[in-house]
Amino acid sequence: MQVAVGKRPISSKNSLSAYTSCKYLENRGHYFLQSTSMNAVADTALFFAKFLYYFLESLVFKVIPKRKKDVAGEIVLITGAGSGLGRLLAMHFASHGAILVLWDINQEGNMETCRLAKEKGGVKVFTYKCDCSNRKEVYRVADQTCKAFLPAMIKADHGHLVCISSMAGLVGTTMLSDYSSSKFAAFGLAESLFLELTMQQKSKIKSTIVCPYFIKTGMFEGCETKYPLLLPLLDQEYVAQKIFTAILEEQVYLLIPKFAYFALFLKQIISPKMMIALGEYLGVDTCMTSFRGRAKAELQAETERKQQ
Ligand SMILES: NC(=O)c1ccc[n+]([C@@H]2O[C@H](COP(=O)([O-])OP(=O)(O)OC[C@H]3O[C@@H](n4cnc5c(N)ncnc54)[C@H](O)[C@@H]3O)[C@@H](O)[C@H]2O)c1
Repeated sequence: MQVAVGKRPISSKNSLSAYTSCKYLENRGHYFLQSTSMNAVADTALFFAKFLYYFLESLVFKVIPKRKKDVAGEIVLITGAGSGLGRLLAMHFASHGAILVLWDINQEGNMETCRLAKEKGGVKVFTYKCDCSNRKEVYRVADQTCKAFLPAMIKADHGHLVCISSMAGLVGTTMLSDYSSSKFAAFGLAESLFLELTMQQKSKIKSTIVCPYFIKTGMFEGCETKYPLLLPLLDQEYVAQKIFTAILEEQVYLLIPKFAYFALFLKQIISPKMMIALGEYLGVDTCMTSFRGRAKAELQAETERKQQ
């Protein structure tokens, strides 16, 4: 027997159920498409709402300074604490009552930082000789201090990772290809960790990624800048203060000087030839030609002292 319902011939009970299933699937498919597009609309609306909210929030924080976190009693591990930024940051944390764990390959410099930190009121300061480029050594020293850091931080859902990258970690730099690639890697690692931790809703583990231009610590002794107003050689105290404030305010990115934000934006929109012209204008292409570095500078100063 054939029964025609609508345009489909139905010959038996099975066919009827097949037809019903088809209709059901068709409807489900339609419903699915409908619900997917509704989801997309809802998703997009939610995204725009969040985007606007975070935009307004960032504007508000430009005017009203963020509440600074308290680091008293916190354990702060600083690698490369024996001089420059590491030492200055140790001073800042010491004067705010943090417990300091200082690592450096140079024991003498590290001991001097320890002495200065204690003078600043550091409650507890521990120093360790460690070559951070040696994985085994890092784990050996970590065992004596806080074991492996990130898993412990994740477990406690508490902590703050600070990465000192560089402007050379955002823009390739002439005669600095080795340094620049390590700084790009440091930036990539820190930013990826920040995103992973956010995704895993480990929102209490904060990240700060710092990208400064040349700082007068001695590391880039001899390097010059053509237009100090746009790209000044930075004062180390100023940079350390900026970094410390960024950590306390839980700022994720810190580029110093401010012109760096504009330069980074320009890099995305101008042609490579325009970028080279800009680099030439700012003298970035030749800034390393006069590089002497700390060792040579110290040797030269020593020779000059002896000649006097
Ligand atoms: N000075 C700059 O112009 C400048 C610019 C941008 C970024 N940075 C970055 O800022 C950070 C601090 O730089 P700084 O100018 O204070 O340098 P610095 O030379 O004054 O201090 C670096 C410290 O790290 C120690 N160190 C070096 N290799 C080590 C190792 N393998 N293991 C353990 N300790 C080691 C040194 O003994 C020294 O005490 C660095 O990561 C640097 O790349 C510096």
